[in-house]
Amino acid sequence: MEKRPSEPPHTAIAIGCDHAAYPLKEKIKSFLVNLGYPVEDVGTFSQNSVDYPEFAMRVAAHISNGMYERGILLCGTGIGMSMVANRFRNVRAALCSDPFSARLSRQHNDANILVLGGRMLGETMAVETVDAWLNTSFDGGRHQKRLEMFNQSGQESS
Ligand code: RB5
Repeated sequence: MEKRPSEPPHTAIAIGCDHAAYPLKEKIKSFLVNLGYPVEDVGTFSQNSVDYPEFAMRVAAHISNGMYERGILLCGTGIGMSMVANRFRNVRAALCSDPFSARLSRQHNDANILVLGGRMLGETMAVETVDAWLNTSFDGGRHQKRLEMFNQSGQESS
């Protein structure tokens, strides 16, 4: 995929997956790298069976402790990754299956981790979902107040 001209410097992104989403993770990583995003890939690095919580925790910890502003997680359905990531303080992980939900997860929920299901989405839809998520800002206002209502709650953390 071609680099887009005159884009601002990109936010670094932490990405992780399990075996079920390894092929899609590689596609998404190439898409990001081609656009100039610095990417830290925390694994997994093959289709050998692994435990998704390990990789969810690596990315969620990076977001929770402020090392990265944005993360992307992928597993078979996206459900397990979402469950684990949302246990971390300050993590707002959104399981999205289309650009519309991805956009709204940014506008209304300020989602800082995008979660995708590698067995649920085709490559084109996944890439378009990532693109929409990366290029949409948080609306703030009434949505900020709502985030504050649950931002400090939840389990620990990094
Ligand atoms: C792995 O088989 C599968 O359970 C995992 O990828 C994910 O879908 C869990 O939520």
